[in-house]
Amino acid sequence: MDGAGVVGQARKGVERSPGLTYQEILDMDTRPVPDVLREQVVPDLGTAPVPISRYTDPAFFREEISKIWMRVWQNACREEDIPNPGDFQIYDVVGKSLLIVRQKDGSIKAFANSCLHRGRKLATSGGCKEKFRCMYHGWTWNNDGSFYENPMPWDFPQAPPETLSLPEAKVGTWGGFVFVNFDPDAPSLESVLDPLPRHFERWRLEDCVKTLHVAKVIPANWKAVSEAFMESHHSITTHPQILPYLADENSQYDILSDHITRHISASGVPSPFVDASKITPDDIIEAMFGTSGRTDAGPNAGAMKVPNNTTARAFAADVFRQTLSAEDGHDYSDKSDAEMLDPILYNVFPNMSFWAGFAPNLIYRWRPVGLSHEHTLMEVMRLRRAPKNGPRPPPVPMHFLSDSESWRDAPEMGGLSDIFEQDMANLPYVQEGMNASLSGVLHFGRYSEMRIRQHHVMLERYMSRD
Ligand code: FES
Repeated sequence: MDGAGVVGQARKGVERSPGLTYQEILDMDTRPVPDVLREQVVPDLGTAPVPISRYTDPAFFREEISKIWMRVWQNACREEDIPNPGDFQIYDVVGKSLLIVRQKDGSIKAFANSCLHRGRKLATSGGCKEKFRCMYHGWTWNNDGSFYENPMPWDFPQAPPETLSLPEAKVGTWGGFVFVNFDPDAPSLESVLDPLPRHFERWRLEDCVKTLHVAKVIPANWKAVSEAFMESHHSITTHPQILPYLADENSQYDILSDHITRHISASGVPSPFVDASKITPDDIIEAMFGTSGRTDAGPNAGAMKVPNNTTARAFAADVFRQTLSAEDGHDYSDKSDAEMLDPILYNVFPNMSFWAGFAPNLIYRWRPVGLSHEHTLMEVMRLRRAPKNGPRPPPVPMHFLSDSESWRDAPEMGGLSDIFEQDMANLPYVQEGMNASLSGVLHFGRYSEMRIRQHHVMLERYMSRD
């Protein structure tokens, strides 16, 4: 990582919210807190304005395709989406398309979803196949990518079968996710993800099942959409209903490596934006369980009263421990309040976000739609621990919302749909406002928007390569 990172303490000179720090809130946790939540990495990335053209210029986007999207590791699907030999999913990005296929030996390969005859896509939806037969003239490939058949081989002397294996992209796995990279010379997935695997050793996303997957096209640049999820302080105007229970302004932000950033907001604690003296512990609980959306079926918040000898945060953590344990059979009694409650968001450059902890974890993925610099496919997934006893349930399929539908048309999202509707309501106007800008630049907060700054540090680095 460039710059002077400081581990273990905030760098002097980088101003922080006057509210309690996240570390001070952790000091009051009712359980031991894992070391990874005690790490702080706060480089001073400066305050330079950022050109708006990065979001609005089609030529800049065309350059991003070759310099970023063709070179970065990307989350293509979950391993559980393709459990058996021949199972495959399609991953489309910036006009490219890959077939992500489970092999007989359990490994996973990614093949170009493009016929080597005259280019037709070999598949347009996922499924299970022994062979991929092109629907145009019948050229056929085995599901290991080797060529199987050309109905008219006599007419193609220039293309003997041994030269017709499907081109492949690199594949890696972590946490139950399948990653792909179009660049044969890309650094290893492990080197890019570091230190994510170490941080997630306790939370083991590979032991989870996808219980929610909702997607919608958002009319805004992919960076504008992803950056809406890299800071917490937008709740003051975008999500006023969560101010009673989310310590937003005083969130902790970390730049853990070139590609990995993190922010953590304490839950069960009021925002510094509101007058805490006017909020009771019961107010916190009622606001929290009605809107957080992290459980599939939240308890009846209105019926809960916080005992005098505890805090709303400790009480809420206990509710989560008991609720989740009753649902999945796991024992959460020794898990910290932070791991039961807090939004702990790790991002992997350029387009993935993984929530940490033991409560159902949200996963975000953002990618441009086709070759449009002003449209982004926003996907929200939720992972839950697989039940301790009984069979592992299958993952849910993606629920694609049409342009005329809102996030509230996905009832499986519960209280989360209101929050996403609020987030997404901003974004078309963010894009329109950036297009309308006369200043030509954006300003990022030095600390609270440090992750967005790092996003642009990496953007600049990739874009400056030949
Ligand atoms: Fe595929 Fe002709 S384009 S067989």
